[in-house]
Amino acid sequence: MSLFSADIDALSLLAQAAADAPQIDGMFAVRLLSRIFHIMFAVILGGGLFYLRAVLAPAGVDACYAGRRAVWARWVGIATLFLIGSGLFNYITFVREAKAMGDPLPSAYHMLFGIKFLLALFVFFMAAILAGKTSLADKLRANMAMWLNLTWTAVMAIIIIGALMRTYH
Ligand code: HEM
Repeated sequence: MSLFSADIDALSLLAQAAADAPQIDGMFAVRLLSRIFHIMFAVILGGGLFYLRAVLAPAGVDACYAGRRAVWARWVGIATLFLIGSGLFNYITFVREAKAMGDPLPSAYHMLFGIKFLLALFVFFMAAILAGKTSLADKLRANMAMWLNLTWTAVMAIIIIGALMRTYH
């Protein structure tokens, strides 16, 4: 291979890399922030539920919140808000973008989204009710470990579905 054709190869590789690089603009920043918030609050909610189940619940219901139940309840509310907001934004953006590029996402993607959303509603409801102050909350807390097992299973399914959805775009 001559020096000249090696140079051409290197230049075409550089041009390809530049074409593949993300366009860094306002929309790029919003999408990045949305993804960061989604992952961060998934970690807070999922991690909090895992810690409750694995460490605190076996020590009894009273050990679960150490008298600071309302603090966890507030974080559950904040995480729910951010997860729904960033999740809907991600979904709408991915669907629109794929359509604009002439390669719409298949129905399997939308089905996975529907299942993920329903499971997430279950997780939000359980996390809120287990941290709540109603008589229903007291009733459910009597079976804390069982409800946390179910809720944590839903969290795992949500994360697996999230990872699967990513393979579509
Ligand atoms: C317990 C609640 C939730 C957890 C633990 C969770 C977790 C995750 C995780 C780990 C990802 C992959 C992140 C990435 O690779 O960027 C993801 C992606 C996503 N989530 Fe959630 N999520 C939750 C709730 C929601 C809700 C309520 C919605 C919709 C309103 C939603 C919509 C999405 C969408 C659209 C994606 C992007 C999927 C893709 O790459 O195509 N999520 N979620």
